[in-house]
Amino acid sequence: MHPTFSLKIMSGNTDRIKVLFFGDITGRQGRTAVKNYLAGIDRQEPVFVIANIENASHGFGLTKKNYEDLASNGIDCFTSGNHIWDKKDIHEYIDSADKLLRPINYPAGTKGVGSRVFEVNGQKLAVINALGRVFMPPIDSPWQVVVDEVERLKAEGVEHIIVDFHAEATAEKICFSKYLAKEFNNEENALIKGFFGTHTHVQTADEKIYNGMAYITDAGFCGAEESVIGMEFATSLKRLSTSLPERYEIAETPVAQINGVEVLIDRTKSTQIKRINLLVDNSKNESEAAFEKGG
Ligand SMILES: [Fe+2]
Ligand SMILES: [Fe+2]
Repeated sequence: MHPTFSLKIMSGNTDRIKVLFFGDITGRQGRTAVKNYLAGIDRQEPVFVIANIENASHGFGLTKKNYEDLASNGIDCFTSGNHIWDKKDIHEYIDSADKLLRPINYPAGTKGVGSRVFEVNGQKLAVINALGRVFMPPIDSPWQVVVDEVERLKAEGVEHIIVDFHAEATAEKICFSKYLAKEFNNEENALIKGFFGTHTHVQTADEKIYNGMAYITDAGFCGAEESVIGMEFATSLKRLSTSLPERYEIAETPVAQINGVEVLIDRTKSTQIKRINLLVDNSKNESEAAFEKGG
């Protein structure tokens, strides 16, 4: 139903895998900040990098050019959401973009795939991307299609599954994550190693390990900090205060926030989740690029 793709990332001496997951990369400032961050990480131990990119190209969708640039700068798997179709060229390249996911619960026949399998440190790790339905545009139910996909991946010998659930409502995210962790994880082994919410662009402080699964309601976003969830203040103000159809403009101020989570996975469960919440000034050159903690 959904073709899988196998990619050899790297091998190491330990079974442990570090997963970095970034919330919605939004515009140029977000792309630059994440690329610089990834250029500085230690890849001596196995690291698998996932980023939600639904807003990466000027706030709306992802161009082929930006996909290729991010794919060659350290991102191993790209998840997305309701904005994935916003740039026209996605329809031309999505079927050949072998690191890219679109939500799995679009109707049958939709281009692209909603899950992929990667080989990381000699272990099969799958990523599933799904859309929520509460306060979201109409879409097929994610519940059964995700369960069916988890069953299919399990039968294929996948050891680790990470879910990016792109949704508005906190309750839908918590409920879906608990359902999957109760259904597929137990004391001895957790198949669902991570369940990370995206879409609201605001990082929540509820990260936890639940039944062997790393969880956060929303990972936040990567983009200009002086903004309204990544969009320019003035156009956001006009639109939100008047309800007139003002077009949102991307915020371009150079201080960017980097939001995400860092998760440690061993063979049977996730052992640690830490939030990434940093500010970086993109206008400074690399030698001055000291990261400071975001508030
Ligand atoms: Fe987004
Ligand atoms: Fe979204």
